[in-house]
Amino acid sequence: MTNIKLFKESEIDAAAMASGVIIGFSKNDAAVKLASSITAPEFVAECESALKTLRASDKTAAVTTLTAPSYQDLLVFAVGLGTEPDLDELRQIAGVGIRAAAGLEEVTVALPHSTNAELEAISEGALLGAYDFTRYRSDADKPVSTINIHSTLSDVESIIERSSIIAQNVNSVRDLVNTPANDLNTESFAQYALTEAQAAGCSVHVYDLAQLHKEKLAGLIAVGQGSANEPKLVRIEWNPSEANGFTALVGKGIMFDTGGYSLKPSSAITEMKTDMGGAATILHAVITAARLKLPTKVVGWMCLAENMISGKATRPDDVIVYRNGVSVEINNTDAEGRLVLADGLIMATDEEPDAVIDVATLTGAQMVALGERYTGIMGTDETREEVLSAAQNAGELAWGMPLPEHLKSSLKSDIADMKNTGSRYGGMLTAGLFLQRFVGDIPWAHIDIAGPSFNREGAYGYTPKGATGTMMRTLVHYLEEKALEN
Ligand code: BES
Ligand code: MN
Ligand code: ZN
Repeated sequence: MTNIKLFKESEIDAAAMASGVIIGFSKNDAAVKLASSITAPEFVAECESALKTLRASDKTAAVTTLTAPSYQDLLVFAVGLGTEPDLDELRQIAGVGIRAAAGLEEVTVALPHSTNAELEAISEGALLGAYDFTRYRSDADKPVSTINIHSTLSDVESIIERSSIIAQNVNSVRDLVNTPANDLNTESFAQYALTEAQAAGCSVHVYDLAQLHKEKLAGLIAVGQGSANEPKLVRIEWNPSEANGFTALVGKGIMFDTGGYSLKPSSAITEMKTDMGGAATILHAVITAARLKLPTKVVGWMCLAENMISGKATRPDDVIVYRNGVSVEINNTDAEGRLVLADGLIMATDEEPDAVIDVATLTGAQMVALGERYTGIMGTDETREEVLSAAQNAGELAWGMPLPEHLKSSLKSDIADMKNTGSRYGGMLTAGLFLQRFVGDIPWAHIDIAGPSFNREGAYGYTPKGATGTMMRTLVHYLEEKALEN
């Protein structure tokens, strides 16, 4: 966990005496202009001169490391600001700077800002960029443990508090997603959810296998029955006394996805520890709402199971009957996410929320359609557009996708109400159409994060390699909007 220390106006230059400092700069022709809250004249002159000599690039988020002769032992990370960075660019700039400083214990972030929103973006970006998953690495560079924030704004405390809550919850999603299935199973995930959610002031109920049978939650039972780790459904609720609106969130929590008897090839099976990313995202979105004390009611449903093979596992061709009477012929056991989400959607919509939003690493087709960084968002028009606008405000990449009526026929079964897989073309959309059947008339958004939840390339901006925690902040922005509505 990263600590934050605040420095106000009179202390600003002293704070630069940490082991590293992050500043911004831009260039006008050959002239270098430092942009930083550190005003000591020799510091400014020395940095500008070094950046000039180094012919440093001022492209947005390009980092140059240097030292200023009068400030021995201080590493300076100068980040290009481009031309007038917007909020998301500021977040990326702070993230890149802090990552460049990995290995230092204490770093001062002295990036320029004049509004609360800019300070929030900088603080959020720094905390997100400082993340590293070191649990299993004996040789790991320690990530920055103390961030000094420089500001002359009056609301600094509350802004830093807010951005720390948000960023720390994104980082917790990342930890869960990066943790392999031998250390995170249905039982330990449920236990974690119980402890963390209760600590934040939420109420929690865990449905064990006996209760899943009692409630006729056929999808969770079918997907989980091949594993030694029993499936579970976890319900968490944040319900403050004066609440505006009621949102239900549903998350896919497949602790590991082998594909079941429709077994994945070896090349596609690795990384399937990440298949619980949806559940991790919604868990921490509810916890964040509670920590921020948002005046809106939220109920989260985590559908936890492990998709494995054994003498008890579900076979292709098996037919299951859901609690709402809908029967499904399982023609592909690798389309397990929609099977467990159906239970979550039935339970969530039974409580008649104003809207339900599900989050899932649902389809490889999402990556084929949108690439690895854009999340696909489907659903009923208004809720889909509201989630898209929340993503825009959070600075997370997302794109609206259709649920075409004509693709429904591909889910027809000869012997049941539906099959669980249909047309391969538009596979993200047919998965959405399958879910639609379990939502009824409740306004709904379906978020497919198969690609964006895990960064396979390498770190960029505030995004580390591995788990990204994407869409947690989008959900929080959505809930904040709801809290303001009447
Ligand atoms: N968990 C996978 C989707 C996935 C793929 C997530 C790659 C992250 C990275 C999901 O359960 C799955 O296997 N989907 C199938 C659906 C198909 C059988 C219709 C897929 O995408 O191949
Ligand atoms: Mn699968
Ligand atoms: Zn899956």
